[in-house]
Amino acid sequence: MVKKNACIFISGKGSNLKNLILKSRDYNFPIKIKLVISNNKNAYGIFHAKKNSIPYLIVNTKLRNFEYLILKSLKKNKINLICLAGYMKIISKNFLSKFNKKIINIHPSLLPKFKGLNTYSKILKNNEIKTGCTVHYVNEKIDNGKIIIQKNFFIDSSDNENTIKLKTQRLEYKAFPEAIIKIYRNF
Ligand code: GAR
Repeated sequence: MVKKNACIFISGKGSNLKNLILKSRDYNFPIKIKLVISNNKNAYGIFHAKKNSIPYLIVNTKLRNFEYLILKSLKKNKINLICLAGYMKIISKNFLSKFNKKIINIHPSLLPKFKGLNTYSKILKNNEIKTGCTVHYVNEKIDNGKIIIQKNFFIDSSDNENTIKLKTQRLEYKAFPEAIIKIYRNF
């Protein structure tokens, strides 16, 4: 199968990146991870890129032209798909208009509920019965684009932020690959 070239954007631990690297080794998985981009030079996720010999780029978001540098690198690597995997920086309208290919994001809630930051504490404060994760297309509004896939679980009375995070991320490792397969199913 001819795989699409993907770039994974990270800011931190990179456990979703690690999982996608693993999945992408499968002959039938529709993407090849050509590039990893981090806006945080200390992101642990960079280790996964290094370990797997995947080129990576650390961008300094204080530079005015940092998105231009990203776009240049995406073009050079012929990237068809961007996966935001814990990338904690808003993608500008200008970037969205220049990268007219697919951009998807994973978010640790059942969108449209609990957009933005501090998701787990908001979920607990709101006494939710169920929670989960969402993979969606990125548009100019935060955590708002068309939903590709969601996975959920019931919250237990003994759950806290840590256990909810663990359960959510376990579902993320299924949801992200499944969303990518779904996007390219008809190719
Ligand atoms: C993931 O749980 C993802 O849903 C969340 O960051 C985590 C990154 O973990 N993303 C957001 O909150 C974006 N709004 P990872 O670095 O271990 O993949």
